[in-house]
Amino acid sequence: MKSNELREKYLEFFRQKGHTILQSASIFPENDPTVLFTTAGMHPLQPYFKGQPHPSGKRLTNSQKCIRTGDIEEVGDPTHLTFFEMLGNWSLGDYFKEDAIKWSLEFLTDPKWLGIDVDRLSVTVFAGDDEVPQDTESYEIWKSLGIPEARIYLLPREDNWWGLATGPCGPDTEMFFDTGKVPCSKTCRPGCHCGKYFEIWNDVFMSYNKLADGSFGKLAQHNVDTGMGIERTIAVLNGATTIHEIDTIQPINERIKRFAKINTEPTEEQRKSINIIADHIRSATFILGDDKGVSPSNLGQGYVLRRFIRGIIRQGNLLNIKQRFLPTLAEIVMSLYSDIYPELERNKNFIMINLTQEENKFSTTLKRGLKRLGKILDETGTLTGQDAFLLFTSFGFPLEMTLEIANEKNITIDTQAFQKEFTHHKDLSRKATSGTFKSGLSDHTEKTTRLHTATHLLQQALREVLGDHVEQKGSNITPERTRFDFTHSEKLLPAEIEKVEQLVNKKIKEGLAVKSEILTPKEAKASGALGFFEDKYQTNVSVYSIGSFSKEICTGPHVKNTKEIGTFTIQKQKNIGTGLMRIRAKIEP
Ligand code: ALA
Repeated sequence: MKSNELREKYLEFFRQKGHTILQSASIFPENDPTVLFTTAGMHPLQPYFKGQPHPSGKRLTNSQKCIRTGDIEEVGDPTHLTFFEMLGNWSLGDYFKEDAIKWSLEFLTDPKWLGIDVDRLSVTVFAGDDEVPQDTESYEIWKSLGIPEARIYLLPREDNWWGLATGPCGPDTEMFFDTGKVPCSKTCRPGCHCGKYFEIWNDVFMSYNKLADGSFGKLAQHNVDTGMGIERTIAVLNGATTIHEIDTIQPINERIKRFAKINTEPTEEQRKSINIIADHIRSATFILGDDKGVSPSNLGQGYVLRRFIRGIIRQGNLLNIKQRFLPTLAEIVMSLYSDIYPELERNKNFIMINLTQEENKFSTTLKRGLKRLGKILDETGTLTGQDAFLLFTSFGFPLEMTLEIANEKNITIDTQAFQKEFTHHKDLSRKATSGTFKSGLSDHTEKTTRLHTATHLLQQALREVLGDHVEQKGSNITPERTRFDFTHSEKLLPAEIEKVEQLVNKKIKEGLAVKSEILTPKEAKASGALGFFEDKYQTNVSVYSIGSFSKEICTGPHVKNTKEIGTFTIQKQKNIGTGLMRIRAKIEP
């Protein structure tokens, strides 16, 4: 089975069960300052688990673009990826355990859908602890559906509980495919990493809310959140021995081998490099292709992107690839996914320009940097924070890359002390994970909300003053300021800044009403709303209008009337990349 077929079948199955098919949300979480990337399909749905009505109803499904960097060091082995697609279905206070489990089993085993032999399936259920009782209901449901008790495993919280750092969470029940391998030991069971069992689906029953102090409250409604990783499931269904053999990765591998002139079976080392390159080019292409205009930098998401791209170039060097190769590989990723994620095609130029620039920049310093690093290691047999800092500033080596190379050469380093010293030089780690650089709203306080509405006014004012080519590429709003990234190729003249400011303040003074309505994307487009319309499914969207001045697709929150905003001032502007400008502005009462 191919990835497209699995995706189509899954969405169609849940459509038939009354679910609305949503387009994937952004790979950067909106309104969540705690993480850099969307790590699961439920990420954008958190407010709706808590009771906020979703414009598309109570039953939703989609295929979500996700990035998880927690195991980035393991990428290259047979099972780890940083970019993956997650299929999911959600009940927002609608159906619960019985339907969720029944439908999971039907989709997995019915010959009309995946047709997996039921005897190859084992499931796990939350065993209960001091805080939350055992999930006997799920246990009984599996039993009633014919899963023998010998294949229903009761496991503790570390295996069968799911949620983000805080917020909606709950016990889960996970479905595993048994490859038929001999158990590695007497204690071998689903969750064991010996390669006998592969997790293919997780149904989470979200009726709890984890608070900042670590305690659990109850949500007002019962929700279901499920997740099935496409890459892993496709690998399992096709009997592949590694995740890198699947249809959405294999063509990238083949092209890498041609670039590296590898005509025979790759060595283990070569295979590792190929796997890393293929994984990282997928992540890099999806980050650059996500409408938000994130480009390589030394901060936050841009730093992770830079790490991916420079990692690819280094692995290419290990494979002896001589020519520039990143844009060609990105084109393969685009050709595999553009039908499903049309934003990739839309951002093709942005992807190509950034990959080319970054490749040109780093390829010229990599060899010299490697020489220098080799010399340091040969002469001193160790590496200091200052060395790493030099490699970073003079040769563009991300810290992690320097550590990786030292590890490969068996130089043992106290990573923690090393990191501390490096951070001391350049407060990089803090910035790379700090909330300051995320997209969206930092909170829903009154001041942030006022700045959010002002940001909509700003976009429209920029379009009126500079032209309709101005399009939002990202925004980040805290109670102190709004930061707005948009397409425009040069700095604004002082007179233009003044005009924009005046226009925003005029609209504030006019006391325009802010209204929201739910429309289909087609209606929204016809109404002239700004936003992303390339949703191929008929998902409803909410549209906010400010008088007849501005109209944007947005999830809010906003003030009710522009009078509430205050006085708007532009503080700074900056050119942040090819054809990209950033404005920072504040409001005062
Ligand atoms: N959110 C759940 C997971 O990622 C379904 O496993």
